[in-house]
Amino acid sequence: MMQQVNLGLLGGGTVGGAVFAALSERAELLAARLGLRLSVVSMAVRDPGRDRGFHIPASVLATDWKAVVHNPNVHVVVELMGGTTTSREAILAALQHGKPVVTANKALLSAHGEELFAAARTHRANLYYEASVAGGIPVIKILRESLVGNRTLALRGIVNGTCNYILTRMKLEGADFADVLADAQRLGFAEADPSLDIDGHDAAHKTGILASIAHGFWVRPDQVHVEGIRLVSRIDIQMAERLGYTIKLLGVVKNVPARAGKGRHPKPGILVAVYPALVRNDHVLASVNHAFNAVAVRGDMVGETLFYGRGAGGNPTASSVLSDLADAALDLRHDSHDRVPAFVPHARGKAHVVPMAEAASRYYVRLTVIDRPGVFARVASVLGAAKIGISSIFQPEGHEGEAVPVILMLHDAPHAVLQKAMARIARLPAVRGVPTVLRVEDTDEG
Ligand code: NAP
Ligand code: HSE
Repeated sequence: MMQQVNLGLLGGGTVGGAVFAALSERAELLAARLGLRLSVVSMAVRDPGRDRGFHIPASVLATDWKAVVHNPNVHVVVELMGGTTTSREAILAALQHGKPVVTANKALLSAHGEELFAAARTHRANLYYEASVAGGIPVIKILRESLVGNRTLALRGIVNGTCNYILTRMKLEGADFADVLADAQRLGFAEADPSLDIDGHDAAHKTGILASIAHGFWVRPDQVHVEGIRLVSRIDIQMAERLGYTIKLLGVVKNVPARAGKGRHPKPGILVAVYPALVRNDHVLASVNHAFNAVAVRGDMVGETLFYGRGAGGNPTASSVLSDLADAALDLRHDSHDRVPAFVPHARGKAHVVPMAEAASRYYVRLTVIDRPGVFARVASVLGAAKIGISSIFQPEGHEGEAVPVILMLHDAPHAVLQKAMARIARLPAVRGVPTVLRVEDTDEG
């Protein structure tokens, strides 16, 4: 008789519901491909009376995660509840029982990944997390397995569908930030707390996970520099377009060269960051639109690679959960533990994470200034004193009045130096409000 692997599902919402439906609809396909059956024997939700558009048999339904995790018939636990408290407790309990766990919970991995992976090792139970980054794109497997012979030189990703959707519609339709965010919430890809998306935290959780795999050590959340998209306005999107760029929220993991004698760490390291950036229109990431995600990885053997797909939503995310379930079931059958260890340092040793203050970039700056002679000269003098070069400066027509926008494109400068100069510029009598500062991403760098 064909071997059966029993699953315990925690959560039956957007992703849990799609996993539950796919497991029943694709039972024969999966059995044929894997040579074993995946069967849901227990499933916990918060509200058993909720109409979910699918039927959970009473014999399977629970409201307490413990009933699922401690059920002796459950071989693999699938955590799709979200949050970082109950989910942490449930995953630790499952691992302590030696049960493999599949999760899509990037917020939890970001906050407690080190502890969870250590528990998995201690209890010889595997932890799978393909769906935690970029929804349906199998980027975890690609980094861990397919690119195993490569050192990662640079990774740049559009890993938050909500922000990409907002920026795309602001660019293509001139839509308003708040209206588009409301649409993203209606369509089900914004987090329950949308500030996780628009302030860059969700992208930071995912970027930290990718950085940890790519560089072989756990990158703590406080080592990831985070900026969201609240400050990006329609005029910045239009100005960037005039200059040949598209603004994208990027998750970036890149090698940073040593800057002799500068900062506390004058040795090479990696930058792990999330920020809105101007991407040249001829780079593929510039044409990744709406809720789509893409991750560009440059390996030292393979060169440039690009992985594109749906980064959110029930079915795409469930597709990655099924991939993990297949691995979990096959690893159980072959009694395989830690088949591909989660974080293995490169032969050259543990890299260090460079603080953003020390990383250099080119910049786009928008100032609002009083339209009178001599203003450009004063701004240029502050930048000159900070040794920051200007590559172009313009004042778009059609904004005549008391206060007008001025756009500056700046040569490479360390973040801390740029910030200091911007604080001085903001204090000039002719400058109004806070300057908008965005990085110009050099996609050849890293
Ligand atoms: P969701 O729609 O809010 O579903 C959460 C589910 O968990 C619901 O079924 C809820 O029950 C259940 N639940 C919550 N607390 C519970 C508890 N204490 N005990 C038992 N059940 C509990 O969330 P989701 O969008 O499916 O996301 C699930 C996870 O996948 C999250 O970690 C999320 O970050 C991640 N993820 C989501 C997406 C996406 O596109 N949605 C993509 C990638 C990763 P009720 O239904 O009764 O309320
Ligand atoms: N809120 C997330 C996004 C869901 O917009 O990408 C997928 O992780």
